[in-house]
Amino acid sequence: MKPGDAIAIEDPSYFYSLPLFQSAGLKIFYLRVDQDGINPDDVVKLYRKHRIRMIFLNPSFQNPTGVSLHPLRRKKIIEISSELGIPLVEDDPYSLISFKGENATTLKSMDENGNILYISSLSKIVASGLRIGWVIGPPKVIDRLADAKQQVDYGHSIFSQWAANEFLKDPYFDIHINRLKRELKKRRDEIVRRLNVYLHGEVEFITPEGGIHIWCRLNQPFNDKQLLEESMRKGVSFVPGSVYGSGKGYVRFTYGRGETEQIEEGISRFTDALNACKQK
Ligand SMILES: Cc1ncc(COP(=O)(O)O)c(C=O)c1O
Repeated sequence: MKPGDAIAIEDPSYFYSLPLFQSAGLKIFYLRVDQDGINPDDVVKLYRKHRIRMIFLNPSFQNPTGVSLHPLRRKKIIEISSELGIPLVEDDPYSLISFKGENATTLKSMDENGNILYISSLSKIVASGLRIGWVIGPPKVIDRLADAKQQVDYGHSIFSQWAANEFLKDPYFDIHINRLKRELKKRRDEIVRRLNVYLHGEVEFITPEGGIHIWCRLNQPFNDKQLLEESMRKGVSFVPGSVYGSGKGYVRFTYGRGETEQIEEGISRFTDALNACKQK
């Protein structure tokens, strides 16, 4: 990519919050995410209008919405990306933590033309502090990336690579993932239950089928900053939706951290904070 090149990312998305692409001088265009992920027709429109040269997607249990790209849309987006010659980056830290039994499929597993660069990480399934991730892509691209990495920091710490490798090889890894899925599902069920009890009629959300985030729309307008300050005073935190997207009136809760037993208290405190803001 060169400064001035156009790319497309999801709105809302984790990448919306990062200055990564802006600081590389890229022009960013947005693909709106609905309950089935992005709409492939929007990619075609953006291509015609702005000649986008890369699509960056988080198709499974997306951060922050928790939604997954619909299988038909997956197929179509891959077709479009290869017909128009637009490389697709699949950022996939969550597909191993699906609550439905089998793992979510990846776009990369359907890629016949080598058009997809696949990225994943141990951050959401083992430990974010390890800073271990990986990329799957055409050898030419991988060589360039490896060279860039070498020039930036001479390669990653060998100690964390060794620890990660030991963990991945160990038969315990599968046991760990299954336990993680079970525990996260419990927390997902609990947060959904508590949102329905404490904020019935005041929030709307799509129940995530995997991952660690739940994206809620509050039915009444609110001031992001004031609600966050009030919540922090009461000892509970969330991410205001404006951090991740252009839509108004959203908050993101993460149920991955903390214990299941703390979720009720967290939602109860958030409800108090919301009520306090209404009265101001
Ligand atoms: C979609 C997505 N991609 C990437 C990351 C960052 O992962 P890592 O810790 O591997 O840099 C996150 C973390 O929140 C994420 O949600």
